[in-house]
Amino acid sequence: MRLTGLFPQFAPEIGKPAVGFSATPGIEANIPAGDTVHFSAAARTRKRASTQAARVVQKPIRFDAERQVFTLSGKNMEYHLQITPDGELRHLYWGKPVGEVQPELLPFNASRVNSWQPALDIVPREYPDFGRGDYRTPAVQVFAPGSGQLTSHFKVVGHRIRPGKPELDGLPSLFADRKQAQTLTVQLKDDVTGLDLDLNYTVFKDSDVIIRSSRITNKGSEPIFIEKLASFSADFAPSDYRLLKLSGASVRERQEEFMDLKTGNINVSSRLGASGHEQNPFIALLEPGATETHGNVYGFSLVYSGSFSAEAEQNRNRYTRVVMGLNPMSLNWKLNPGESFQSPEAVGVFSGEGLGGMTRQLHSLFNNHLIRSTWKDKPRPIVMNTWEAFGPNIDHEKVVNMAKEAKDLGIELIVVDDGWFGEKYPRTGVDALGDWKVNTKKFPKGLKGLAEDINAQGMMMGIWMEPEMVSPNSELFEKHPDWIIGQPERTPSPVKHQYILDLGRPEVQDYLIDTISEVLDAGNIQYLKWDMNRTMTEIGSFHLPGDQQKETQHRYMLGLYRVLKVLTEKYPDVLFEGCAGGGGRFDPGMLQYFPQIWTSDNTDAGSRMNIQAGTARVYPPMTMTAHVSDVPNGQVGRTTSFKTRFHVAMAANLGLEMDPAHLSEDKKAFAKEQIAFYKQVRHLVQDGEYRQLRDTFTSNWPAWMFTATDGSEALVFAFQKMADVNVGIPALRLQGLDEKARYQVSGIEKPLTGAYLMNVGLVPRFSDDFDSNLFHIRRMD
Ligand code: DGJ
Repeated sequence: MRLTGLFPQFAPEIGKPAVGFSATPGIEANIPAGDTVHFSAAARTRKRASTQAARVVQKPIRFDAERQVFTLSGKNMEYHLQITPDGELRHLYWGKPVGEVQPELLPFNASRVNSWQPALDIVPREYPDFGRGDYRTPAVQVFAPGSGQLTSHFKVVGHRIRPGKPELDGLPSLFADRKQAQTLTVQLKDDVTGLDLDLNYTVFKDSDVIIRSSRITNKGSEPIFIEKLASFSADFAPSDYRLLKLSGASVRERQEEFMDLKTGNINVSSRLGASGHEQNPFIALLEPGATETHGNVYGFSLVYSGSFSAEAEQNRNRYTRVVMGLNPMSLNWKLNPGESFQSPEAVGVFSGEGLGGMTRQLHSLFNNHLIRSTWKDKPRPIVMNTWEAFGPNIDHEKVVNMAKEAKDLGIELIVVDDGWFGEKYPRTGVDALGDWKVNTKKFPKGLKGLAEDINAQGMMMGIWMEPEMVSPNSELFEKHPDWIIGQPERTPSPVKHQYILDLGRPEVQDYLIDTISEVLDAGNIQYLKWDMNRTMTEIGSFHLPGDQQKETQHRYMLGLYRVLKVLTEKYPDVLFEGCAGGGGRFDPGMLQYFPQIWTSDNTDAGSRMNIQAGTARVYPPMTMTAHVSDVPNGQVGRTTSFKTRFHVAMAANLGLEMDPAHLSEDKKAFAKEQIAFYKQVRHLVQDGEYRQLRDTFTSNWPAWMFTATDGSEALVFAFQKMADVNVGIPALRLQGLDEKARYQVSGIEKPLTGAYLMNVGLVPRFSDDFDSNLFHIRRMD
């Protein structure tokens, strides 16, 4: 502790408590939940505070009025923030429960600072505004062109604590009932611009997550431009943090990348108009020594599917700040007097049990409080998809023949992928998109007749669409050339021969709702694969005035979310699957509407090990669709065994994507067996706890385990990447079992105790490159 090292001019500013620290912990409150408490400057004094309410009764959010400290408690986590005497919101602490935090003893105050460094640059702030000497990246930045104001100074004016969690209007958001969670809103105001700022925090009783969002309202008299309004901002004390991000490319999505945080700003972001293949809206900070199973980890995940930004910045004093939200490069929102702007939500998760603990909390949160589909808890049908078998060259006969063959294998749903539509402009390759009328030359019985013939085989029918797009050669574009994203006098770049519809326009949203409804009503269609295959260029809207053009991207997302909400509510029994050129929009925003998403167009078992392990770092395994396809693999040219292809796909949401007519009798029998087994155990992948036993990216022998929450059953997938000779393969120690219980392991006659399985471990048997073992484990007593 180097309190004496502080330069005197900073002493009042740095961590000085609003009031003394003599308050007896545990004073109970007299502010009823739901009340708004307003503070005048004078009210932030010890005298008034002690006569006012002391602490809100309702947990997990407590306000200590004397110390002006909010404490947000999860299951094994606390988050503390404080209002300073001058109304600043200070971040105090986030981590394992500690009770009371003493601001003047925090590590932020431990180093000497030069007198020329502004006071706000060296304190932990909760939601940093811009322009007053904090040179770190801000959470909020606004511009008032009338008065020329660039600076903002948000001071706390009140707060409100409510049971449950409000849902966001127009944006996907987590949900919780009154008993599961509690929400704090801290109200701030900038007197000069007249902007009101609400910071929302929801904590769940049974987990260690905080959901945050921000809302700004223009109470002034001139239009204000919002350049940045982050969803989550958190300051961390100096340490040697490591950053984890999920980065990649098309057909190589969500690879785990770790890096040491040094001075500077790491910006993990997308400017594509979609969350994208390259970066996922997720980052994690690892404290020194944190591993898969141990140590403190802070994860951040944005509930948004468009251009985003996640910054991890270390300043000269080694203070670290994380700021996550809409990408400011893609935003400049005009807020007229009386209007409000709502940021998306972001999830912050604390794990004291390493990365694995963070992963399991995110899985449970997304499964229980994000995915809305009625399919969330239902067994997901095992699909066979036409794409890798036939490309767009499909017709009634091919699809029905596929269904006949697939039926014997145990397939439950046939997906009619790309190529079924277009009368005037038929789809033959990547040529014509946007006219969602069945091509009657290919499908003379229409979608109704096709569904009947598939249903006659005892299977459901699903269909593919790419609704957000239009091709230059389409009846839709001929009629509405101004419905696309574009800029006057600029030729729109036809990436993949297609343009993006401007979903910010209400008439485009309504058109899509009607058109997709017509497709779903055309026959007994029980599944929709919603694809999106290009990124935005020449970004602008022919619908908006010049000074609102930088609203185009976010308006697009709001429009898309409206369409998805209306359709998923109108067709609650249809299983919607998200897709974006593979896994180019695999994010929590999409999960609200799509309980499953196509993980990648790369179906090679070797590549999929990494893609799925990276995706499962954040997203529940059953949300990842994974298809067994032909070899050599179309993307990487590799040949892997049928067994390994099945095992990799069975550790997620299993499907097949091949022409079953080409399978030998042996292969058919094997596939039938695997599919039947998957039906018995898919509940473990869907509801079980997921553990990465050995790291997929760095080990030659990755392994994954799914354990029933009651501990009665488990599945262990073990893989070998490269075969070698005279190399000892380490035993696979299981986790999360009951030491004393006895377990029956498939392929092993004698029962083994939990202690044995977790300390001695299993010995997988491998032969070739990309080999696999699958163990089914059942508790006996
Ligand atoms: C991209 C998707 O990722 C594929 O699965 C397939 O549906 C094609 N689009 C069809 O064009």
